[in-house]
Amino acid sequence: MDQYALDAIERITTRPKEVYDTIAVDPLTPLLGAEVSGLDLAEELTQEQVAEVRRAFLTHHVLVFRDQKITAEDHKRFARHFGELHPVALAPEGSDPFVLDIKTTKESRAVAGNGWHADGTADAEPSLGSMLHILRTPDTGSGGDTLFANMHLAYEILSPAMRAFLDPLTAVHDGLLPWMGQTPPPEYEVPVNEHPVVARHPETGRKLLFVNGAYTSHIPQLSRAESKAVLDMLHDHVARTPLLNCRVRWAPNTLVFWDNRCVQHHATWDYYPHERYGRRVAIRGHRPRA
Ligand code: SIN
Repeated sequence: MDQYALDAIERITTRPKEVYDTIAVDPLTPLLGAEVSGLDLAEELTQEQVAEVRRAFLTHHVLVFRDQKITAEDHKRFARHFGELHPVALAPEGSDPFVLDIKTTKESRAVAGNGWHADGTADAEPSLGSMLHILRTPDTGSGGDTLFANMHLAYEILSPAMRAFLDPLTAVHDGLLPWMGQTPPPEYEVPVNEHPVVARHPETGRKLLFVNGAYTSHIPQLSRAESKAVLDMLHDHVARTPLLNCRVRWAPNTLVFWDNRCVQHHATWDYYPHERYGRRVAIRGHRPRA
């Protein structure tokens, strides 16, 4: 591996271990994700518990909470500790405007999130993060895992020359792309927004790569061929570098909270024709800044 990539990994693996008083935090990999225990999300949390979850979130970016028997109201209450709720786009009539059903059945021909992406990056203000609570896992007993990728590290392991090239660029994110040629409903106002290719995390200031294969259409400062080559290279980099990843194996009543500003995720659809069901609540974010 190149020295700059080793240096980037070493900066993470040698940082002082965080100490927590009210929760236990068990990393999934040295570079991304952690299981958090010691909390019952059906109960109101103390300020200290919330502060420790926030600290673990900024350190590990993907937090996994097991055995959480919670209602949709508990789920929203937990999410509100981190900001206002982000409304669901195209919420069905009569449904909760802040709770998105994530449901796959035998009749499904596509699955939400079955490709590397961050949520809603074509929006002017993509969400801060999402909390997915899975209630039903496939009857196969396994399958339906979600993969996550650390976009801080995706940036940091690029060569210094590539980072300097990408730093001043922007990219257009187009809400029509995930529809893959299908026509969205007429009430959907398709969002199209330009964001920095390299953004800074608003809370830590750490840089991150902010392009993804689901929404990013082009880099306007480059020719069409150059833009395609650079984006293909970056999307391949995310898809083909396993050290960027952690993988969550779900069980019923697992809740995962991911930082949508600095991780991408990919839902694996390896369980057809079996069913999977959960509820997702998202938290409002801000416009990404370079
Ligand atoms: C998504 O939010 O993209 C869905 C993730 C999943 O179903 O695991």
